[in-house]
Amino acid sequence: MGYTELKDELKEILQREEGSTVLLYGPKGTGKSTIPKALAKTLGYSCMEKSAAALQNKFVGEGIKNLDELIDIGKIMAPAVIILDEVTGILEHAGLFSHKSDETSHFNSLFSTGPIKGIYFFGTTNNPTVINTTSLSRFEHKFFVDLPDAEERKGIFRHYIGWEIENIPEGVSCRDIQRAASLLKRKNEREYSHLFFQYLTPENKGQNWEKVREAIGDDLSLIKDYFGVKKDTVELLTSVEVYDKNKTTPREKKNG
Ligand SMILES: Nc1ncnc2c1ncn2[C@@H]1O[C@H](COP(=O)(O)OP(=O)(O)OP(=O)(O)O)[C@@H](O)[C@H]1O
Ligand SMILES: [Mg+2]
Repeated sequence: MGYTELKDELKEILQREEGSTVLLYGPKGTGKSTIPKALAKTLGYSCMEKSAAALQNKFVGEGIKNLDELIDIGKIMAPAVIILDEVTGILEHAGLFSHKSDETSHFNSLFSTGPIKGIYFFGTTNNPTVINTTSLSRFEHKFFVDLPDAEERKGIFRHYIGWEIENIPEGVSCRDIQRAASLLKRKNEREYSHLFFQYLTPENKGQNWEKVREAIGDDLSLIKDYFGVKKDTVELLTSVEVYDKNKTTPREKKNG
């Protein structure tokens, strides 16, 4: 199923039912969190996103309380889309971690009689296989969100940057494309787009920006000689790590 079909189907679910439970699973950076958020916005629904890890706490019982709170706020703000990212964090195989399985059974009982009125509950995960079967059965709908195909890669890139390129390699995620586009857009480096994507190969895993940087770094002189790359472009290409949100960016360092 492509993104267009997925969005259409989800939109229909959000419109036709009183409430719903949906599991979106698949590789990283494919829109599992973004798509429901965007649909909520389109439909004028409230939207809350939280990671399962953030619900949890070192205190036993806190995770359950936080989950209830999220649902309660959703009821007040209904119709509401609630996105619980990395939902596997609380839906592991029962009994694996005692404190987690409390949350698992709480989740299972929350949705034991079906969806909650006015609440569209989305769980997202990269690995649904670790979810226990009872929790899995609580999701009325389950969709596999795959990496983009060739046409989608082209379309997403065009969406973010306004022009097209061919041959964005397979294995590159929507997030990779969005990041690459914003990186290239800053300097309007149209001519380097192919070069850039060359390094976003499946072997580089697409998501591994350290590796991409390394690959570019290793070939730096080659790139320079072959393409006659301007110095600031090389810097631009080698500074992809600034887009890793978990790190302090060089810019922040400078200003701070
Ligand atoms: N279908 C899409 N079309 C255009 N851009 C997209 C699409 N999917 C994702 N993106 C871009 O990629 C970014 C990451 O997407 P998102 O966070 O929804 O991925 P995810 O599947 O939830 O990833 P993870 O598994 O790592 O949580 C988005 O902020 C958006 O910019
Ligand atoms: Mg996500």
